Amino acid sequence: MNLEQNFQSFLSEQAYAVVKAVSQIASDLGQPVFLVGGAVRDLLLGRMSHDLDFVTEGSGLALAQTICEALDGSLTTHERFGTAVWTPPAQLFPNTVDVITARKEIYKTPAALPEVTPSNMQDDLFRRDFTINGMAIRLGGPQHGELLDLYHGQRDLEKKLIRVFHQQSFQDDPTRTFRAARYAGRLGFALADGTKQALINSLNEIKLLSADRVRHELEKTMAEPLPMPMLEILEDLGILKAVDANLVWSDTQRIALAHLDGLLSLELGQSAAKEVSKTYLRLTTWLTNLPQSEETALSITNCLNVSADIRRDIEKVLKVLDASKTLEDLRPGTIEKLLRGLSAAQLTLLQANQQLPKEIKTLIPTYFNRWRLIKTSTDGNTLRQLNLPPGPSYQKILDHLLAAKLNGEINSDSEENEQLTHLVQNIMTENKKSAS
Ligand code: CTP
Repeated sequence: MNLEQNFQSFLSEQAYAVVKAVSQIASDLGQPVFLVGGAVRDLLLGRMSHDLDFVTEGSGLALAQTICEALDGSLTTHERFGTAVWTPPAQLFPNTVDVITARKEIYKTPAALPEVTPSNMQDDLFRRDFTINGMAIRLGGPQHGELLDLYHGQRDLEKKLIRVFHQQSFQDDPTRTFRAARYAGRLGFALADGTKQALINSLNEIKLLSADRVRHELEKTMAEPLPMPMLEILEDLGILKAVDANLVWSDTQRIALAHLDGLLSLELGQSAAKEVSKTYLRLTTWLTNLPQSEETALSITNCLNVSADIRRDIEKVLKVLDASKTLEDLRPGTIEKLLRGLSAAQLTLLQANQQLPKEIKTLIPTYFNRWRLIKTSTDGNTLRQLNLPPGPSYQKILDHLLAAKLNGEINSDSEENEQLTHLVQNIMTENKKSAS
């Protein structure tokens, strides 16, 4: 099967230019080179592909060096694995490109890095996660564009099946459990019977992954255009439970995530998306909608080693949820105090939260657009000029005035001054009483 036609139809113009240039360079060197992995899978599925991974039988580092010299950009190399990551000039191609030596991998212990030895395409394709990702296209020379499918990847693509190469695969690399769910959800594929059983048999090994690796997999899931089917599969296969018993995906989390995605097209959501990424908001929405106490929240943030920013946002959301339980009224002044100081991202997380009462949620955009911007004319300096001794009474007075202004009880500077005089007098009298 020759796939040169698919290059032209399903690679971007820039990606196609890179493939052509790499083919030419490898031909000139007389070095066999192949496009592998996701790009081949997507080309066969007729999906646009933006990721390019090249494998060569020979030195990947030398090939990468030649590519970089010919086309410019920069190179990061990992001698031990025979891998290089080429960053092309942005105008040529916007993504990084992997160029590696064909290799064989041996996993001595589950979830650890494999031992790597240079080898041929047969071994290189066999070391991969799934048959649909284990195909290659030869580049350059008379067989340019020929599909190399040694393990029935194409058959599995047609049957819509995710299949591992061998029963140890998930034990060797438990991140493949997350990857299986991602491809199944993204492509609408099922796990082949033996693969499903192999995955279930290796759930215990998930605990061997570092928190960072697990979080990275979940972030990749949340970065997908449609993460929900994948999360459903992660839950159904018991992968989430294997990470932490409190990490669940049920109706509450599904509704929250759908709600968040809707909010991102509104004004507040758009401000939130300028502060942090969509992936960040989705992940944090999930974590703040788990059935949780502070302890479970802490256990999950630890087992995913989330960033200090996510921890802070979770704490803020939980604090507001807690305070909202005893809120006495929903007047603007009360809501302003409840939400004061929260970022657009934190407010969006609250809006997506399934525990926060609806009546409060609906007031959040008004807080963000109007109430947040209203200030009193009085400030700390005004209070000092009135000879009020600095202390907690300052905040009390300022809060009181702001709430009164927001609630429509103060409608002008002179009304504010009147209230201020009254409040200061009261505090002075109280101070005198307690001093005597
Ligand atoms: N791979 C693997 N095992 C892993 C990670 C990657 O075998 N744990 C192999 C697969 O062959 C995969 C290739 O490395 O196709 C590139 O990995 P990655 O870029 O993560 O995946 P893509 O297939 O490009 O998929 P995606 O479309 O999700 O980017």
